[in-house]
Amino acid sequence: MSARSIELKINERYSGLCCSTGNLSCGGAAEHVEARTGECGVDLGSGRGRELFSLVDRVGNTGRLIGIDLADGMVAVATETARTQGLSIVEFRQRELHDTGLEDASVDFMISNCAINHAPDKDAVYREAFRFLKPGGRFVVSDIYATSEVPAQFAHDPDAVAECWGGAVTREAYLATLVNAGFHALEVLEDSEPYAKGSIEVCSFTIRGRKPALT
Ligand SMILES: C[S@@+](CC[C@H](N)C(=O)[O-])C[C@H]1O[C@@H](n2cnc3c(N)ncnc32)[C@H](O)[C@@H]1O
Repeated sequence: MSARSIELKINERYSGLCCSTGNLSCGGAAEHVEARTGECGVDLGSGRGRELFSLVDRVGNTGRLIGIDLADGMVAVATETARTQGLSIVEFRQRELHDTGLEDASVDFMISNCAINHAPDKDAVYREAFRFLKPGGRFVVSDIYATSEVPAQFAHDPDAVAECWGGAVTREAYLATLVNAGFHALEVLEDSEPYAKGSIEVCSFTIRGRKPALT
C-alpha cells in the first residue's frame, strides 16, 4: 500500500465529503483546542480546511495556520477557499503526516480530525507532531479506533484504509503510540459507542495531550 495509492483513493472518495461531515462521527478537534492570539496551529490531514478556517478569529491576524494533506485535490480546494476569503494567515501544504517539513519546535498547537487512522505508520506521525510542537505545545485529535485488531487483509487494503477503518488500531495501541512519542497529560474528551464500519466495529474518540514543557 503506497502513499500514492491512498492519495488516489482519497481524492476519488472524498471529492465532496469528509469524515466529520459525512456518515462518520469524528470531528470537532478545533472546538476543544486552546488557541490564542498570535499562535501557530497545524491541522494534520486538513482536507478542505474547514476546521482550520474555524480557528482564524481565535489566532487573529498575527497568528498562522497550516494545513497538511497528501491529497492534491484537498490542498487545491482548501487553498482556493483561503484565497477567495482573503485568509492570508492560512496555508495548505501537500505533505505526508509523518513528514510535514515543519521546523522543529515551531508550532503551538496541533489538531487532527479523522486523518491519522489513514497513516500506515502512526508512531511516525506522532513522533513528527512531537518534533514540530514547541515545549508545552498541545494537541487535540479526533480519530477512529478499532474495538479489536483489524484483520491483516483489510489493514493493508487501500479502499478500507481510505474509508477510515482499514488502518484503525485498537484504543490501547493508539494510546501507547501517544505515550511512546513522549506526550503527557493525556485526556480522552469524548469516546463513542462502538459502531459498524466496513467489515469491523470501530469507535470515534477525541484526545488531548501535551508535549512536556522545558524544565
Ligand atoms: C477523512 S478526511 C478528513 C479531513 C478533515 N480533517 C475534516 O475533518 O474535514 C482525511 C484526510 O486526511 C488526509 N490524509 C490521509 N492520509 C494522509 C497522509 N498519510 N498524509 C497526509 N494526509 C493524509 C486525506 O487526504 C484527507 O483529506
